[in-house]
Amino acid sequence: MGMYNFFSSFVLFFVIHLLFLVVIEVKGKGLGIGECDLFKGTWVKDEELYPLYQPDTCPFIEREFRCQGNGRPDLMYTHYRWQPLACNLLRFNGVDFLEKMRGKSIMFVGDSLSRNQWQSLTCMLHSSLPNSTYTVDRVTDVSIFTFTEYNVKIMLNRNVYLVDVVREDIGRVLKLDSIEGSKLWRGIDMLIFNTWHWWSRRGPTQPWDYIQEGSEVMKDMDRMEAFEKALKTWGAWVDANIDPEKVKVFFQGISPSHYNGSLWNEPSAKSCVREITPVAGSTYPGGLPPPVTVLKSVLRTIKKPVTLLDITTLSLLRKDGHPSIYGLGGPTGMDCSHWCLPGVPDTWNEILYNLI
Ligand SMILES: *[C@@H]1O[C@H](CO)[C@@H](O)[C@H](O)[C@H]1NC(C)=O
Ligand SMILES: *[C@@H]1O[C@H](CO)[C@@H](O)[C@H](O)[C@H]1NC(C)=O
Repeated sequence: MGMYNFFSSFVLFFVIHLLFLVVIEVKGKGLGIGECDLFKGTWVKDEELYPLYQPDTCPFIEREFRCQGNGRPDLMYTHYRWQPLACNLLRFNGVDFLEKMRGKSIMFVGDSLSRNQWQSLTCMLHSSLPNSTYTVDRVTDVSIFTFTEYNVKIMLNRNVYLVDVVREDIGRVLKLDSIEGSKLWRGIDMLIFNTWHWWSRRGPTQPWDYIQEGSEVMKDMDRMEAFEKALKTWGAWVDANIDPEKVKVFFQGISPSHYNGSLWNEPSAKSCVREITPVAGSTYPGGLPPPVTVLKSVLRTIKKPVTLLDITTLSLLRKDGHPSIYGLGGPTGMDCSHWCLPGVPDTWNEILYNLI
């Protein structure tokens, strides 16, 4: 009897101990930095540490993104820091970034939103090391920014669909299952892709006349479906060509526009002009743009590791971050798609820094 009691209390003790360990493990998963969702958070004012650089310490910001230089009078939009809900972001350190990437190459591939993020990263690095020498070259569709002392190349390959547009006898053909442009991506150590904004283009700025899938050539098709097919072609390229030991692959995520105030509870707004504050809190009233769902479902089918920079929600909250009339201006006028620099893409890069 005594022996039995001793044995059962021993078992009970053991079981309770085990449960305790399980509870600790589960709690750790909820709260640990490794498990923190960097893309869920709020924008907080931080006038001391932000912006990460001043426009005049980055002489190469293109006019399109140089809002302050183009006369934007309010500057509060440069003083916000992204605060994840469950942890803190490591502050960007340009010297550490370049040390980590010494001898390596990074390539942004995509449309002008990739150019926006590329310029932001080169500004962040250059202003961390203003005396470090750099060169800028352009070879056909690739711009190459080199930090010569570190032999780090930050490149931009303009490629708005990722799949090919080919000039043929009938006209320009957007080929959903051809990805010859990928030749330029070989041998790069870190690739950051993006495509979406050009899929909805129609009229004179649509850069193709026909769309082709397999042997079928069409005048047009559902654009979201075309976007999905192209992403699958790109995903198959990743699976067939990426060695995860050598190459890190990111997808920039869908960068949102702000042309419809109904989506941020200001129905009279038809653009982002005169927006000077972010949306408060961590959810956007208008919800996510539809391509986000398509992108995430395709990313789940890719076997090789691809990290999504899931910047949509944090950028949706920044209706104040676009150039509006302080971009290229002129007849193309209102820009509520790109982002002022310094500004929101600096946060995309700060998160990228936290992920590498
Ligand atoms: C860069 O060089 C200038 C002029 O030589 C010097 O005044 C400045 O302190 C240097 N800046 C940094 C960050 O080393
Ligand atoms: C703006 O968004 C609202 C709410 O989703 C929608 O009903 C409306 O059609 C949109 N307006 C435009 C011009 O797209």
